[in-house]
Amino acid sequence: MSRAPILGAVIQPSKRTGHVHPWGAAATPYLELGGEDGTRRLAKEFYDVIEEESPRLRAMLPRNITKTREKFFMYLSGWLGGPPLYEEKWGHPQLRMRHMPFSIGDREAEEWMRCMRVAMENAEIGEPLRSFLDERFEPLAQHMRNT
Ligand code: HEM
Repeated sequence: MSRAPILGAVIQPSKRTGHVHPWGAAATPYLELGGEDGTRRLAKEFYDVIEEESPRLRAMLPRNITKTREKFFMYLSGWLGGPPLYEEKWGHPQLRMRHMPFSIGDREAEEWMRCMRVAMENAEIGEPLRSFLDERFEPLAQHMRNT
């Protein structure tokens, strides 16, 4: 019987970290991050970093990014195992398709990850959650490349 890779299916504490899950002690990455507050914080720090120090990514965004910020928070909520706010309001994310209007290559994906790493630092996300998120964001950022 083949086994689907279910997020949260790890039930043996890690020998390395002693945690039950690769992201830490809480039942989901969302809860480990601090639920809604922590997820909002990460989304906010991320776009703050883009606005402060990433002309490359900032240039791709609309002048007013209030809605972009909110959509990113809503997406993260579900992606992290919390309430699927994005899907409830906007339907299936189809993220790759939604990124098609923008030219995203290696440099953009790397810059996105760089900003996310600074944001995780600024949001004071501890280990092992930070490494777990880093590992999970990376393939997603690569997946958005279209040039
Ligand atoms: C790889 C580099 C990436 C670039 C350059 C990029 C860039 C963008 C841009 C320009 C938008 C449109 C913003 C707007 O019009 O308001 C957008 C939207 C969005 N991005 Fe990304 N993105 C990247 C990766 C990611 C990743 C890895 C995620 C998820 C973790 C993500 C999640 C989203 C979401 C949820 C939206 C809103 C979609 C919507 O309009 O409904 N992006 N992104």
